[in-house]
Amino acid sequence: MTSFWSWYVILLTTMTIIGLVWLVLSTAKGQRADIAEEAMENSWDGIREYDNPLPRWWFLLYMGTIVFAVGYLILYPGMGNYKGILPGYEDGWTSAKQWEREVAKADEKYGPIFAKYKAMSIADVAKDPAAIDIGSRLFANHCAICHGSDAKGSPGFPNLADKDWRWGGDAETIQKSILHGRTGVMPAWGAIIGEDGVKDVSAYVRHEMAGLKAPEGTSADLENGKKVYATTCLACHGPEGKGMAMLGSPDLTSPAGWIWGTSLSQIENTVRNGRTGVMPAQAEFLGEEKVHILAAYVYGLTN
Ligand code: HEC
Ligand code: HEC
Repeated sequence: MTSFWSWYVILLTTMTIIGLVWLVLSTAKGQRADIAEEAMENSWDGIREYDNPLPRWWFLLYMGTIVFAVGYLILYPGMGNYKGILPGYEDGWTSAKQWEREVAKADEKYGPIFAKYKAMSIADVAKDPAAIDIGSRLFANHCAICHGSDAKGSPGFPNLADKDWRWGGDAETIQKSILHGRTGVMPAWGAIIGEDGVKDVSAYVRHEMAGLKAPEGTSADLENGKKVYATTCLACHGPEGKGMAMLGSPDLTSPAGWIWGTSLSQIENTVRNGRTGVMPAQAEFLGEEKVHILAAYVYGLTN
């Protein structure tokens, strides 16, 4: 901040505080309880205005806020470039500094606990109630926003509490999914197989593979859908539609594990326009020790 703006802020703040004190003192002056009932000149529609003194508690509360404000402005940086004299912060308090100190303190306190779990296998950590407690709190803070607080997923985000896995449900694979993230890419096929191809293969996947009942009077050509599947989809979803963990392509015979919807129009949309599910990597953000506990938590949901 330039010194002009710094002085501008200081002057404005000081004058505001002084002005507020003056306002309440000047209006309170001359008020006496014994003339409280004396009516003023003003009267509207029979309602008369009295000039009662300010209640004492209100006056003290008001003055209290002024004292608080002055104390606060001495300790904390609120006056232009003035840094404040809060003890423990030689170079002035900032919210970032306070946060860094709290993080450092927490690391010191919880570091040994995380290190202990890191040395154990994920399957063993999953059996430790204290670790699962930590895991569920980490999950609530960092994962529930997408996967839901019960880990059961929502549209676009997979259920982690069932047996359907896109990338794999063993302990190491779950850990890898969390550490390095995952990107599931279902390409758009509309321009390549045409609208008939989209309709036929979607109906084929829904009614023949996923086993979901066809609506009455469907006009899709399931024979053609089967052909389109074999030439276009089989490479990624496999000959029986069971999916491939290496690509994160889901099992098309198990619609309970799908994330983009199971209605015919939703499947057609997926096939026509493609889908990209992104699981953000946590290695940098949370670190290996926390991810280890989270992997155990997620693993423990189904094992
Ligand atoms: C290049 C590999 C690849 C090909 C080819 C491919 N898919 Fe996919 N498909 C994927 C991946 C990966 C996903 C998961 C996308 C995600 O996670 O967001 C997916 C997702 C889907 C879904 C959504 C499942 C859900 O979770 O809701 C359907 C339906 C689907 N594919 C059908 C098809 C059909 C039909 C074809 C052929 C026209 C096809 N796919 C071709 C890789 C492929
Ligand atoms: C921004 C949303 C988002 C957040 C936050 C998020 N995830 Fe995910 N996660 C996803 C998506 C989307 C996928 C599916 C990726 C795909 O399409 O293959 C996924 C996939 C996964 C998988 C793989 C599932 C499978 O079937 O193989 C695991 C395990 C997982 N997440 C765990 C976590 C954990 C633990 C956290 C908390 C640290 C977390 N996720 C935070 C969006 C998120």
